Amino acid sequence: MIAGRPSITFVVATVVFVFVVITFMSSGSVRSQLRTTSKPTKLKASAEKHSKSDVFNATLGFEKVFVIGLPERSDKRDALTLMSALTGFKLSWIDGVLGKTMSDKALPLGWNRETMQDSNLGSWRGHVNTMRRIVEDGISSALILEDDMDWDVHVKTELEQFASAARTLQKDFHRNQSLESSSPYGQDWDMLWLGSCVTTFDEHLPEHLKIAEEERNPRKVLIFDDPTVPLPPHILANGSFSWDDYPPRTRIVYVPGDNVCSFAYALSASGAKKALHYMGLEGQYKPFDNHLSDLCRLRLDGMRCVSVVPSLFVHHRPKGRISADSDINKAGQNEEVREVGFTENIVYSTRLNLGNLLRGMEPEKQWAE
Ligand SMILES: *[C@@H]1O[C@H](CO)[C@@H](O)[C@H](O)[C@H]1NC(C)=O
Ligand SMILES: *[C@@H]1O[C@H](CO)[C@@H](O)[C@H](O)[C@H]1NC(C)=O
Ligand SMILES: *[C@@H]1O[C@H](CO)[C@@H](O)[C@H](O)[C@H]1NC(C)=O
Repeated sequence: MIAGRPSITFVVATVVFVFVVITFMSSGSVRSQLRTTSKPTKLKASAEKHSKSDVFNATLGFEKVFVIGLPERSDKRDALTLMSALTGFKLSWIDGVLGKTMSDKALPLGWNRETMQDSNLGSWRGHVNTMRRIVEDGISSALILEDDMDWDVHVKTELEQFASAARTLQKDFHRNQSLESSSPYGQDWDMLWLGSCVTTFDEHLPEHLKIAEEERNPRKVLIFDDPTVPLPPHILANGSFSWDDYPPRTRIVYVPGDNVCSFAYALSASGAKKALHYMGLEGQYKPFDNHLSDLCRLRLDGMRCVSVVPSLFVHHRPKGRISADSDINKAGQNEEVREVGFTENIVYSTRLNLGNLLRGMEPEKQWAE
């Protein structure tokens, strides 16, 4: 074959290949169906179909996207800045706090420095500083991320589907503090808990029996056939239920319950005030995420929360020294090195697809399914 003149077989093979790729991409495009559990509501294709929802804007349909991180963890800032730039949104950094720098006089009521880690104290302070910032600056809504997050490259499509489900759930919420400016996630929410590590549904908690009968119906909206939901055994985080009870590739949007891990959550203006009240002023004696869960579960100050499992934001475990994963655990406890990074529950990991995204190639799944 003469260089520069491709053979007929080569041309035919290329045409067939391109056709197959296009067919695959259009059939496998990230679209899924939404259904409610209790009273199945048929969700109408709304006006969003014509004009793209604000969820697709540069701050994911919130006014701000904050990330809390210690300034010295420049490695984590490099990764998150690149990831958000490649998936189309902009971050605002909030400096994390080292617990040991906090004055004893500023400790929350109930905090015991002898038995609780200073790193948990620092984590608490970083989150509460972010809540205060939202209140001080009069921000209408903000997403708050921890600095080791990963998300699916299709995160905006996922958020659009979540938004639709969240609006459906809010029909049963009280309207005492409707959002002042319009939000694609609905007008009656305080917190959207988008990243946690273990989900226990409300109806599986003993406290459920104490909730008034009319509020007790399980409140969930199911998103079916979501190609960004992993298949077993890679789907995790089910603390009180079996994934086998749901069709494969179902994402569940629900009113929490008990959640563990504060990877990512959004607060509305009213939610930030309620969170600052409970998390800042009412005393702390457990890690931050346990108190955050109480705020939702006990509906303190009328708190209205919506959550999702599998989560849309999950911490990444990067290749390299395992001790560098968390700023809560001390360095030096574990000198093991991880050869391949991973993120639980995220199929098309942004972090692991950075190379593909930079070359303009299709994202790859973490697991062969
Ligand atoms: C994105 O949408 C939200 C909700 O409408 C809005 O508050 C925010 O200002 C928008 N962000 C940008 C960068 O336009
Ligand atoms: C979570 O779901 C899996 C099925 O994917 C099941 O085997 C496991 O027992 C469930 N965990 C809990 C705590 O129910
Ligand atoms: C909403 O406001 C009414 C009074 O206007 C009050 O009775 C009710 O307890 C409030 N609900 C919540 C959840 O705060």
